[in-house]
Amino acid sequence: MLSPQLLLLSLLPLIHAQETVLGVFIFHRHGDRTSKSFAPTTLTDLGYVQVHHSGSYYRDRYVSTNASSKIYGLASDIVKTSQLSVEAPVDTVLQNSAAGFLQGLYPPVQQVNTLANGTVVSAPLGGYQLIPVNAVASASSNANSENSAWLQGNSGCGNAVVSSNNYFFSEEYLNKLKSTTDFYQSILPVINNTFTAATNTYKNAYSIFDLVHVSTIHNATIQSGDLLTSDTQYQLLQLANDHEYNLAYNASDPIRAIAGSTLAAQIVQNLNKTITSKSANPVSIQFGAYASFLSFFGLSGLPSVSDNFTGIVDYASSMAFELVTNATVSQTSYPSAADISVRFLFANGSASETPLTEYPLFGQSEVTLPWTTFTEEMDKFAIGDQATWCERCGNTTGVCATADATTSASSPSTTSSTGGGMSRVVAGVIGAMVTLAVVLGIEALVVLVAGLRLVRKGRGNGVAVVGENVVGKTA
Ligand SMILES: *[C@@H]1O[C@H](CO)[C@@H](O)[C@H](O)[C@H]1NC(C)=O
Ligand SMILES: *[C@@H]1O[C@H](CO)[C@@H](O)[C@H](O)[C@H]1NC(C)=O
Ligand SMILES: *[C@@H]1O[C@H](CO)[C@@H](O)[C@H](O)[C@H]1NC(C)=O
Ligand SMILES: *[C@@H]1O[C@H](CO)[C@@H](O)[C@H](O)[C@H]1NC(C)=O
Ligand SMILES: *[C@@H]1O[C@H](CO)[C@@H](O)[C@H](O)[C@H]1NC(C)=O
Ligand SMILES: *[C@@H]1O[C@H](CO)[C@@H](O)[C@H](O)[C@H]1NC(C)=O
Ligand SMILES: *[C@@H]1O[C@H](CO)[C@@H](O)[C@H](O)[C@H]1NC(C)=O
Ligand SMILES: *[C@@H]1O[C@H](CO)[C@@H](O)[C@H](O)[C@H]1NC(C)=O
Ligand SMILES: *[C@@H]1O[C@H](CO)[C@@H](O)[C@H](O)[C@H]1NC(C)=O
Ligand SMILES: *[C@@H]1O[C@H](CO)[C@@H](O)[C@H](O)[C@H]1NC(C)=O
Repeated sequence: MLSPQLLLLSLLPLIHAQETVLGVFIFHRHGDRTSKSFAPTTLTDLGYVQVHHSGSYYRDRYVSTNASSKIYGLASDIVKTSQLSVEAPVDTVLQNSAAGFLQGLYPPVQQVNTLANGTVVSAPLGGYQLIPVNAVASASSNANSENSAWLQGNSGCGNAVVSSNNYFFSEEYLNKLKSTTDFYQSILPVINNTFTAATNTYKNAYSIFDLVHVSTIHNATIQSGDLLTSDTQYQLLQLANDHEYNLAYNASDPIRAIAGSTLAAQIVQNLNKTITSKSANPVSIQFGAYASFLSFFGLSGLPSVSDNFTGIVDYASSMAFELVTNATVSQTSYPSAADISVRFLFANGSASETPLTEYPLFGQSEVTLPWTTFTEEMDKFAIGDQATWCERCGNTTGVCATADATTSASSPSTTSSTGGGMSRVVAGVIGAMVTLAVVLGIEALVVLVAGLRLVRKGRGNGVAVVGENVVGKTA
């Protein structure tokens, strides 16, 4: 006779059997890294562990033979690279995070291979599996030109830069700047090697938080560390959250969230490809910065679920968009789009520590949305082609010179008046740098302003290395 436990175990597969995961799109933040204040920024061992564990978590969920939500047709042990599309911007921390994640997703498998002449060969590093991580180029370099103008919003969207700059002139910002002056000055002794009384303000909320946050993780002896009470640290985080969310999203000025808009288009396009290929391309993974998370959260209505979604996501956070169906899936029958749904999940920090949790998108009550509903909602803010990008961004030169010509014969005089009523000159170079960094999703740039001052304070290799970090080429 079966024991109750055995009975339950034997029923479990039946409960799960009806739902099939057809594919997934994952967007992932990098793991723990060194401070932006001391370039070049690198992924730490801790960060490597975080992304690797996240990869193992996703393996247990989608990939291995006994996975809890095995993806239909996906190779379990030996990777089939045609089934995976992995992308990361040209940024050392993000590229390495992607590589570390993939090692967890498809760990080494030792195999032996016999050549024609009888020699036996086996792969190095215990059968380490090589999986390409495609570089998403930023606007400044023209590699990957096909996608570079709009992918991840990494491209210098003119109107978005102006919009984010407007934050620095908003009443909300100016009030916060004033009301937090004393708070920031009170912690100056902690960071006075890097910040001066003049730069230690809400204007640099993220850089200051980043420096302190990294120190609290890695440095057992922080100078004047007694000033860093848990309350102070919490305030630094909240102020940084406020600052970054406002640069990434503004409900009445959607272009500010260009990073989220282009990500949304990527999500739909990749999931669409999974469906049209009948799951021949089931897995898409992109690595990116927290600003893209924040922009997307704002656009997709997640802050109405919880205020948490207006905060910077922790290192190694990820969001997953699962394509699921209850229809029969076999080699001869693939479900139609009408039988396919999308489920959104998010993990704040490495999913191995804080598992993926389902949340409803677009202010809806259901966490599993029909594919058509999902795409309709995403299409309301997705920006996925060059011409639309150029038009919304108000860009007419460079890659947009030709894109513009194909959509409309807009004259330069009309585009020059767009941009929320503030001239780019007024907006200022430094503001543009800071906002570019956030909007374009390259965290490395955020500290450029602080970096300039670092140099003045004599911290040697500041500017040049900060710059190098931004475009940090990977071979
Ligand atoms: C699958 O099996 C492996 C090896 O036996 C085990 O380590 C892992 O925890 C299992 N995963 C699940 C989701 O049960
Ligand atoms: C067999 O072929 C491989 C690859 O060409 C070569 O490296 C190896 O030396 C050969 N072995 C013998 C015994 O000829
Ligand atoms: C778009 O326009 C802005 C402002 O003129 C410019 O800084 C940026 O480089 C342009 N982007 C592209 C991709 O041409
Ligand atoms: C949001 O955008 C509106 C419209 O452009 C602007 O008036 C407001 O100041 C912005 N708010 C913030 C916090 O940036
Ligand atoms: C930083 O503050 C501490 C404590 O007030 C002080 O001893 C130190 O000299 C300051 N360092 C700099 C570089 O100003
Ligand atoms: C830790 O903090 C101390 C005091 O500020 C500083 O001298 C030291 O360089 C820091 N160490 C690291 C590894 O950052
Ligand atoms: C996928 O995208 C193509 C091109 O936009 C569209 O024609 C097709 O209907 C989409 N397929 C699904 C299943 O949404
Ligand atoms: C928001 O974050 C808090 C603290 O981490 C957590 O307790 C709470 O469950 C979160 N809320 C949601 C809706 O995720
Ligand atoms: C993630 O955690 C951070 C604190 O570490 C918090 O500020 C943020 O709101 C959280 N985000 C979500 C979506 O839970
Ligand atoms: C499949 O059926 C189960 C049980 O009725 C339900 O909870 C789940 O949401 C369904 N999944 C889809 C994709 O419709």
